[in-house]
Amino acid sequence: MPLKLFIRFWLPLWLLQQQFRCLLAQSPQCFHFTWLGSLENHASIANESCESRVGDFNEIPCVSPLVVTPNDTVPDVEVLWNNMTENREQYLCQMAPGYSCVKYSYIFKGGIQNITYMCALVNSSNGCYKQTYSTGMQVEACVCTSKIGLIPCNGCSDRSQVNQLIGFLGLALFVFWLNK
Ligand SMILES: *[C@@H]1O[C@H](CO)[C@@H](O)[C@H](O)[C@H]1NC(C)=O
Ligand SMILES: *[C@@H]1O[C@H](CO)[C@@H](O)[C@H](O)[C@H]1NC(C)=O
Ligand SMILES: *[C@@H]1O[C@H](CO)[C@@H](O)[C@H](O)[C@H]1NC(C)=O
Ligand SMILES: *[C@@H]1O[C@H](CO)[C@@H](O)[C@H](O)[C@H]1NC(C)=O
Ligand SMILES: *[C@@H]1O[C@H](CO)[C@@H](O)[C@H](O)[C@H]1NC(C)=O
Repeated sequence: MPLKLFIRFWLPLWLLQQQFRCLLAQSPQCFHFTWLGSLENHASIANESCESRVGDFNEIPCVSPLVVTPNDTVPDVEVLWNNMTENREQYLCQMAPGYSCVKYSYIFKGGIQNITYMCALVNSSNGCYKQTYSTGMQVEACVCTSKIGLIPCNGCSDRSQVNQLIGFLGLALFVFWLNK
């Protein structure tokens, strides 16, 4: 096959197919777990449960699985999302119609105590809402809508989504240019 034909026809087709495979593979998803922050004894995570931590019929959100991180740093959701070997489905939920992705953080004196990521029915538009209690504890709830195939929006930033979109647009332009 002439190289020119390959570059002008098959390569773009293949690139597009690769891109679409990622974009269309799944329905929109949200992260879905509770990061416990600094838990004194990491080994005892096996004995922790949402019930034992917050009990039933409580306003405090808690979502299994419970997660701790090395050095108690906030979860790197991008690494989690990109790590296919880690059975990542258990950290994700399907964002059903009408649902939003929510990231719910407890913050005390600027330090993040714990974070719950979830799919939820919420009666508010996308954005972050912060409330400060008299104890000094702050609660921040960020609501967003995920896109199919992209990293769930209730991660740490919107940047990765924007990057993926820009990457896609760049590819589309590249293909257009090749076929001109
Ligand atoms: C979990 O709980 C069991 C029973 O209460 C106890 O024997 C065990 O040592 C605990 N494990 C850890 C890692 O704390
Ligand atoms: C998160 O931290 C707040 C404040 O310390 C606490 O009330 C709440 O129970 C914690 N949530 C979980 C799931 O442990
Ligand atoms: C955790 O802390 C140790 C020492 O305090 C450091 O050597 C290591 O790089 C840290 N790991 C991460 C993931 O930050
Ligand atoms: C992916 O997850 C597995 C299982 O938790 C872990 O052993 C591995 O180091 C992770 N890979 C990366 C690149 O983080
Ligand atoms: C949801 O929002 C609408 C309009 O903002 C309001 O009228 C309604 O009372 C809210 N419902 C709940 C359960 O908060």
